[in-house]
Amino acid sequence: MVTMSDQVTTIEPMSLAQIAQEHGDGFSEREVVFEVKDLAVEYSGNAAIREVSLDVYKNSVTAFIGPSGCGKSTFIRCFNRMNDLVPGARVHGDVLYRGKDLYAADVDPVEVRRRIGMVFQKPNPFPKSIYDNIAFGPRVLNLKGSLDERVERALRQAALWDEVSNRLKESALGLSGGQQQRLCIARCLAVEPDVILMDEPASALDPISTTRIEDLMHELKRQYTIVIVTHNMQQAARVADMTAFFSVDVAPDGNKRTGILVEYDRTSKIFTTPADKRTEDYVTGRFG
Ligand SMILES: Nc1ncnc2c1ncn2[C@@H]1O[C@H](COP(=O)(O)OP(=O)(O)OP(=O)(O)O)[C@@H](O)[C@H]1O
Ligand SMILES: [Mg+2]
Repeated sequence: MVTMSDQVTTIEPMSLAQIAQEHGDGFSEREVVFEVKDLAVEYSGNAAIREVSLDVYKNSVTAFIGPSGCGKSTFIRCFNRMNDLVPGARVHGDVLYRGKDLYAADVDPVEVRRRIGMVFQKPNPFPKSIYDNIAFGPRVLNLKGSLDERVERALRQAALWDEVSNRLKESALGLSGGQQQRLCIARCLAVEPDVILMDEPASALDPISTTRIEDLMHELKRQYTIVIVTHNMQQAARVADMTAFFSVDVAPDGNKRTGILVEYDRTSKIFTTPADKRTEDYVTGRFG
């Protein structure tokens, strides 16, 4: 987790705008994969986020940024019904996935999580071999075709194959943190998802591993739709086509704090000419 003072010291506003412009060219809004309408989430009656509406586009990277506690993790968990598993969490409003209500009674949350995979902040490989980690999902789901081929394909897609092809039977726990994170991405890819959700996937990694994950996102978005949460604004500027800035709305009495979506637009716009003063203050490091 990054504190606000860290953010102030690490951000160079000009370079952010440049990065976003260099990477932001050429994105045109396309097919909508998720349509979020008036979403609110509460935990045991306390609103964590409210009135969030946005569209997520196919074959793009969408980033959620904002200060700690503004509800980014809460929000990203709505995209594959992960909040179903959080005690006390209630989701209101609509999340349409390819036009279908993700929260409809006839939708199987397990199938949802296969189609919409998730990678977490801390790599969480199973205490099994590298091979068995990747083969786990296909085995459980009884997916057809050669398992060896599926494992190799997923590891190649996650840019890990060259590093592990001669040690597939070794424990995944022996991999470095950056390799473990790519393993988790490969494990997610092995069940052929449509969307990959990543909640701060590179926050615990060194700059080289971070670059590899970012390169991977550029590569993977050709085939998948990617949604990420990041505290690293350079990262958002480098990888995201669209960026949503969230903030915390504090009630006048100071007691109620609720996450709100302040602005959602092309990344280049968010980092160069945001429409909202709060976004500008945040991306230029004047947040406070
Ligand atoms: N399982 C939970 N039970 C109760 N409250 C929760 C739970 N998870 C999150 N919250 C609350 O919801 C609000 C939003 O939290 P969330 O974790 O979504 O923020 P975030 O933007 O991801 O923060 P960070 O950048 O620190 O990861 C916070 O006030 C938090 O305390
Ligand atoms: Mg979070």
